[in-house]
Amino acid sequence: MRIASFVGQKGGVGKSTLARVLAVAAAREQHKVLIGDFDLEQLTCLEWSAMRMRHGIEPDIEARAFKSLKKLRKTVTDFDLVVVDTRGFADELTEDVSKESDVVFLPTGTSMDDLRPTLALARRLAKTRSVSNKIVIVLSKTGRSERLLEQAEATISEAGFDMLNAVWPERDGFQADLDVGRAGSETRNPHLKQAAKEVEMAMMTLALGQS
Ligand SMILES: Nc1ncnc2c1ncn2[C@@H]1O[C@H](COP(=O)(O)OP(=O)(O)OP(=O)(O)O)[C@@H](O)[C@H]1O
Ligand SMILES: [Mg+2]
Repeated sequence: MRIASFVGQKGGVGKSTLARVLAVAAAREQHKVLIGDFDLEQLTCLEWSAMRMRHGIEPDIEARAFKSLKKLRKTVTDFDLVVVDTRGFADELTEDVSKESDVVFLPTGTSMDDLRPTLALARRLAKTRSVSNKIVIVLSKTGRSERLLEQAEATISEAGFDMLNAVWPERDGFQADLDVGRAGSETRNPHLKQAAKEVEMAMMTLALGQS
């Protein structure tokens, strides 16, 4: 069983959204996938999974709430991939989750206000040697400026961290889809779909350990 987690020091950067994109991609390829929702205040993925079912959107994505990773490890066995969504701040659970994960995605915006706390968290997590090579920063909800994107990429490389080789662009269309239980990759807009597919493929490769 592989575990791919989404963690961060900031709220609203796209953790839950990207978790859902990854879960749908894995399910579509016939992997048995579960979303472990650790954000007990919001339960974003749990609510979304129910909405998806109500709207009859296939494949079904199972989501369960968990308080601790120990509990997940004890009760969840029969899955190929567990996608873990966490809260918008980093705490002990973030460290636990990271240690148990095969890949740890840190979504972040391109601004220094977003990058600074993201890199600080990445450095903190990387102190654990078993975690340091699993950290992947994802540029998320990016604007249309190539220059800002390049600057952010340079900042991340200089800090010595890996980046996902696709970015998750900010587009209003993605929100409308999420609101009815679809993931970004299930949008009907061909341009958005293409962007989502690239992110989806890049995450899948890492989550499933394919090269
Ligand atoms: N590419 C995108 N374009 C436009 N809106 C987006 C995009 N990705 C996510 N959003 C929206 O941004 C908001 C925050 O996204 P999301 O819930 O995934 O962030 P999060 O990191 O999980 O936040 P939190 O820390 O509160 O759990 C949501 O309203 C979501 O619909
Ligand atoms: Mg969330």
